[in-house]
Amino acid sequence: MASHNLRSAFVVSLMVIAVDSAMAEVDAVGKRLHDAQCISCHAQRFGGDGSPIYLRKDRLIHDDAALRQRVAMCSAQTNAGWLPDEEQHVSNYLAQRYYKFK
Ligand code: HEC
Repeated sequence: MASHNLRSAFVVSLMVIAVDSAMAEVDAVGKRLHDAQCISCHAQRFGGDGSPIYLRKDRLIHDDAALRQRVAMCSAQTNAGWLPDEEQHVSNYLAQRYYKFK
């Protein structure tokens, strides 16, 4: 009996860890790049931390391909000098945190 309880406690704590890391699962590299290059202008125009631009009702981006194109375009415009894999990190981050495409 005691060992059964111990095992349940172990399983429950594994589940807690799994849920924790699922919530934290945004692309950290993408976040860092995005926050350094992209927030200030968005925040100036849209307020807060700039995120309303991604969450507004009439937002421009509706799928992953469009998001990747937009990130590449903005990265070129701002001379961020990102490599393709860095653009991919930023697209991942924006999709995970804001767009949540179905
Ligand atoms: C100089 C200002 C400025 C900078 C810097 C900037 N943006 Fe933007 N961004 C805008 C504006 C303005 C819009 C809204 C365009 C519109 O509504 O037509 C926009 C829109 C977007 C959208 C689409 C939002 C939607 O409607 O779904 C994405 C994605 C985006 N920007 C990503 C980026 C990324 C990634 C960077 C950093 C490399 C960046 N932007 C840097 C001004 C900027």
